[in-house]
Amino acid sequence: MSAGQAYHIRSFREEDLESVIEINRKCLPENYTSYFFLEIHHSNPEAFLVAEAGGKIVGYVMCRVEHGLSGFLKFKLTRKGHVVSIAVLPEHRLRGLATLLMVKAMENLYEKYACHEVYLEVRVSNSSAIKLYRKLGFKENKTLPHYYIDGEDALLMVRKLPLESWETVQLKKPS
Ligand SMILES: CC(C)(COP(=O)(O)OP(=O)(O)OC[C@H]1O[C@@H](n2cnc3c(N)ncnc32)[C@H](O)[C@@H]1OP(=O)(O)O)[C@@H](O)C(=O)NCCC(=O)NCCS
Repeated sequence: MSAGQAYHIRSFREEDLESVIEINRKCLPENYTSYFFLEIHHSNPEAFLVAEAGGKIVGYVMCRVEHGLSGFLKFKLTRKGHVVSIAVLPEHRLRGLATLLMVKAMENLYEKYACHEVYLEVRVSNSSAIKLYRKLGFKENKTLPHYYIDGEDALLMVRKLPLESWETVQLKKPS
């Protein structure tokens, strides 16, 4: 891609399914059925976003809205966003795309779905993703032993919503 080509973040559409599945398979060992992707899209259409460049899908973030125990307040049930999967094609990485996808998804989780917190699981070995999430204000909540099918542990990371306005400005600033 030529320098300066614009990226566009928008909601997932059904015609994006094949591209998203391809990116998911290329970038992550956790793969899902078409039904799973479409079910999340239908349940929470504004929490499943894609990044497009020159008419091609180059990344996505897929979140689900859940009801469950708060990661912050003991014994309190809350509505929270769950980042189920995020990936950016290797040739489009380190340009702030995952940051933009996450910021927009978190804005939508708060504004459209009234989520006051967001959480995710990440492999303990995935230092790039952990760095990304820390930069986005996530904190480690606990370790989930043998969470992944190959036996690797996950870190459960959480943050409160909404994003503060200074955070949004800082994170959306072009690097
Ligand atoms: C993790 C991933 C989504 C990041 O996408 P990206 O578009 O490159 O991320 P960004 O450009 O927004 O990076 C934001 C920050 O994350 C951290 N980061 C991202 N990739 C990094 C890397 N390879 N090495 C070190 N830090 C990295 C940095 O802090 C970076 O900020 P900086 O560039 O100012 O230092 C991408 O590497 C990916 O698709 N990986 C494979 C799939 C995956 O691991 N998904 C997460 C599963 S939980």
